[in-house]
Amino acid sequence: MTHFIEVAYLLAAASFILGLKFLSSPKTATKGMAISQGGMVLAVVATLLHHDVIDYKFILGGIVVGAAIGALMATKIEMTDMPQMVALLNGFGGLSSALVGASAFYQLTPNIDGFSMSTIGITVLIGTVTLTGSAIAFLKLQGLMSGAPIVFPAQNIVNLLVFFVSLGIVAYLVIAPANLMIFLVLVGVAFFLGIMVVIPIGGADMPVVISLLNSYSGIAAAASGFILSNNVLIISGALVGSAGIILSQLMCKAMNRSLSNVLFGAFGQVEAPTEAAVAAPAPVEGQEVPKVISGTPEEAALIFKKAKSVIIVPGYGMAVAQAQHAVKDLATILEKQGTTVQYAVHPVAGRMPGHMNVLLAEANVPYEQLIDMDDINDDFEDTDISLVIGANDVVNPGAETDPNSPIAGMPILWAYKSTQVMVLKRSMRPGFAGIDNELFIRPNTMMIFGDAKGTILKISDALK
Ligand code: TAP
Repeated sequence: MTHFIEVAYLLAAASFILGLKFLSSPKTATKGMAISQGGMVLAVVATLLHHDVIDYKFILGGIVVGAAIGALMATKIEMTDMPQMVALLNGFGGLSSALVGASAFYQLTPNIDGFSMSTIGITVLIGTVTLTGSAIAFLKLQGLMSGAPIVFPAQNIVNLLVFFVSLGIVAYLVIAPANLMIFLVLVGVAFFLGIMVVIPIGGADMPVVISLLNSYSGIAAAASGFILSNNVLIISGALVGSAGIILSQLMCKAMNRSLSNVLFGAFGQVEAPTEAAVAAPAPVEGQEVPKVISGTPEEAALIFKKAKSVIIVPGYGMAVAQAQHAVKDLATILEKQGTTVQYAVHPVAGRMPGHMNVLLAEANVPYEQLIDMDDINDDFEDTDISLVIGANDVVNPGAETDPNSPIAGMPILWAYKSTQVMVLKRSMRPGFAGIDNELFIRPNTMMIFGDAKGTILKISDALK
């Protein structure tokens, strides 16, 4: 049986790796999910056959209750609430690793050796930090607590101190294991640390933090794999740990920010813009106040009638307006009149990785039409219309022209290069980065104010 279990674990690990490979493209992602799920079922079945499992009653109960809650959550959850669901699941991952560590401590006391204590200490520390950090992320994203960064003087120093104290406690336990009191202090400090590291992070930076917490939950699982001498847990934990950290890095790169700036920069602490600032661009001394050219959906439709090529640039506002189906209908109308339509997808458009891909896939936009930034940027200058739908930062030319801009150096979609730019948003209000966008006052830009979905429906009606 032991050989069978090890072979099953090997196959499961191989399917996780293959699954991840397939998940790297929207075209093959469904297949990737199926392969990974198959691997997970194999790993669970093999584990249940382990001779250490002597009673199936509680396990069965856990499977039934867990599966029912999971199935309910997965079917009821709105796509826009996905980040907080992932946060919650990461937290449970951290909790289960911490519980494995605690139960090993309970079982091995008082004869714990130094190595076992180190794996238990690390598992409990990372697992508990993941649990409370994810809980704060969930509360922020669900609007149950303020999404703004909570900051106080010398916060980073305090956090660093708490971190080193927690490491010190693990080290102490390795030297003097089986000390229940100190073990409980470790749990308490880790609980506190998880809260402290996530509260200073702005709500909209949460996707990066969630991806990082996901990585932590993987590391905790890998550490618990050492406690249980379970190879598939070590491998899958390491995969989750590295995938999470790579995703966090990719998101930071696409925002032109460092991971430390996200974690320690308290980004998003911008003052709410005043109504005056929202209504018009700020005048610059000695310069003529630039004019905003605004138009109606009907005027836009007249321009669309003559367009040979259109690039749609979706952003966070498309998700807020839930405009994806209306966008797809407009694209169909344009294609029927002979216009080529493509979609330009910026890696951090929206608020979570793949946000725009998921929404547009829901509206049955073919994958081939969703083009990544690097592949489509050269097409903008030969395009008649860039239709910017609720996107702001990802098309802000200030990232290239203003070295003092908070987003200076962030790669952007070159929508401004097309003959005509149409921007659909409700006001002149800034986006996530909290800064003005000079695209909105360029002579080839037409602003069409209003909810994106309503505006698109009106353009489609006028075109029909
Ligand atoms: P943003 O720059 O955030 O701009 C979104 C715009 O949508 C706003 O300016 C808003 O303007 C408009 N909007 C909101 N509701 C609307 C509605 N119902 N109809 C029409 N427009 C609406 O979005 P973006 O261009 O997608 O950029 C994403 C930002 O999020 C980047 O700064 C990125 O770094 C950051 N971020 C992304 C991620 C990931 S992984 N995607 C993670 C963390 C942070 P009005 O209020 O005037 O309508």
